[in-house]
Amino acid sequence: MIRVLGIETSCDETAASVVALDGCSAPKILSNIVLSQIEEHAAFGGVVPEIAARAHVEALDGIVEAALADSAVSLDEVDAVAATAGPGLVGGLIVGLMTAKAIAAAANKPLIAINHLEGHALTARLTDGLDFPYLLLLVSGGHTQIVAVRGVGDYQRWATTIDDALGEAFDKTAKMLGLPYPGGPNVEKAAASGDAGRFAFPRPMKGSAQPDFSFSGLKTAVRQAATAIAPLSDQDVADICASFQAAVADALGDRVARALARFRQEFSDKANPALVVAGGVAANRTIKATLEALCSEAGFAFVAPPQKLCTDNAAMIAWAGIERLRAGIVGENAADFVPRSRW
Ligand code: KG4
Ligand code: ZN
Repeated sequence: MIRVLGIETSCDETAASVVALDGCSAPKILSNIVLSQIEEHAAFGGVVPEIAARAHVEALDGIVEAALADSAVSLDEVDAVAATAGPGLVGGLIVGLMTAKAIAAAANKPLIAINHLEGHALTARLTDGLDFPYLLLLVSGGHTQIVAVRGVGDYQRWATTIDDALGEAFDKTAKMLGLPYPGGPNVEKAAASGDAGRFAFPRPMKGSAQPDFSFSGLKTAVRQAATAIAPLSDQDVADICASFQAAVADALGDRVARALARFRQEFSDKANPALVVAGGVAANRTIKATLEALCSEAGFAFVAPPQKLCTDNAAMIAWAGIERLRAGIVGENAADFVPRSRW
């Protein structure tokens, strides 16, 4: 039995969780506490780093206690403490990693420094027991990446954004249109009653031989369209949202199709290839439907872990800790580990 306490504070969620793995049965999430700071940041239309760091300081001790209490596992009984050490907002990373170091030192447990992206990358093994290799599409407020997940600690980034993250593009579009933060869900809601054919927004990078994403041109096109027809009626906003979402799904689909083809080539002996989606934007139904269709066409399984585990959480960090313990690669001495805002 391996039990790991995980801590996540890299952005605007304060989270702690205990995950257990018992022999050959499926892993169990014994507790998974996530405190979102959305309300603290809403008035500013985005995450304010200083506010985030302070909120983590105030909340983290209580969240860790709650995660232990919920799991009915005492600190003595955990095998290790795993904490996100980057990438992310440095203030939050310091709070989480320092707290984890203190807990680990006091309880005499090993500390494992986890890369936040590794947490997202390995979640599908926690929820769906996927075998390596598989393809991961991570689309959140901070990240837009396609990663070939080949093994624990063995990740190859095939594509990233050359400008805005996809969630950021949703959030900025919402802001331009006067929709509340966080923008993604509100853009999706408005789009439901909109005409996706009214505006012919660009599909950045579509057809390009370069694998990466780009969304800033699309954002500019939305701004120009909105300015040209201002003041905007509710129907105008709905039509812009629907047209924006269609452009995003189309552009994203083009990039993902390329990656699926590359995966087929590079891992030609993989019998049941899978595409895993993670990140807040993966909640979007239009995007999900586009990806599902692509996967079924290309013969890939489409794996979308429950939304609660797709967005930032500490179960994925605890799980990454278990994966590393099990693989015998806990990395450098984490007690000396300095948080890395970029990693
Ligand atoms: O993964 P996440 O919760 O946090 C990080 O960024 O790490 O992702 C949040 C992002 C925000 O930009 C939000 O607007 C976007 O995910 N998002 C959505 C939807 N729900 C959340 N974007 C599009 N459609 C949605 N339904
Ligand atoms: Zn994340």
